[in-house]
Amino acid sequence: REPVPANRRGVDKTRAEEAPVERTFVMVKPDGVERGLVGEIIGRFERRGLRIVGLKMLTPDRALAERHYAVHAGKPFYDELVEFITSGPVVAMALEAPDAVKIVRQMMGALKPLDAAPGTIRGDFTVDVQKNLVHGSDAPDTAAAELALWFSEGELLR
Ligand code: RTP
Ligand code: MG
Repeated sequence: REPVPANRRGVDKTRAEEAPVERTFVMVKPDGVERGLVGEIIGRFERRGLRIVGLKMLTPDRALAERHYAVHAGKPFYDELVEFITSGPVVAMALEAPDAVKIVRQMMGALKPLDAAPGTIRGDFTVDVQKNLVHGSDAPDTAAAELALWFSEGELLR
């Protein structure tokens, strides 16, 4: 008789090795709202299976934009970036899934338009390095900081 493989003895190994559930901060930028792509962008995340645990629309003021993009302060594109992100309403959201940070980054596509693969949000809908429709936190620690910056605790589902 065949021995029972180790990974079938009681514990479902596939699930046991699944990445921990995490939350990430995602924003549809002003160009996405203006172009009517909010539904398209949120829909992609929803259909993928990410859980929306926070969602709101606002026009970021300068102080919020500067804190959000503090890491880029002093760079040549910084002033234009702050102008852009405060130029109109954005949709801010918190998304939850195992490996949510990396999954969202994958679905967004690369920063350089030529590197943004077809099938990604940037690769399907934009050719502009600045007006690139979507922001997603780039690591778990920046995700936590950005979620705390954009949302109060009561605005996020538990
Ligand atoms: P994001 O922070 O918005 O999710 O985008 P990202 O990580 O792919 O790119 P990042 O290097 O963090 O840059 C932040 C945003 O600044 C604008 N940018 N413009 N003109 C330029 O060379 C340039 N480089 C960056 C983009 O809007 C970029 O998403
Ligand atoms: Mg970034």
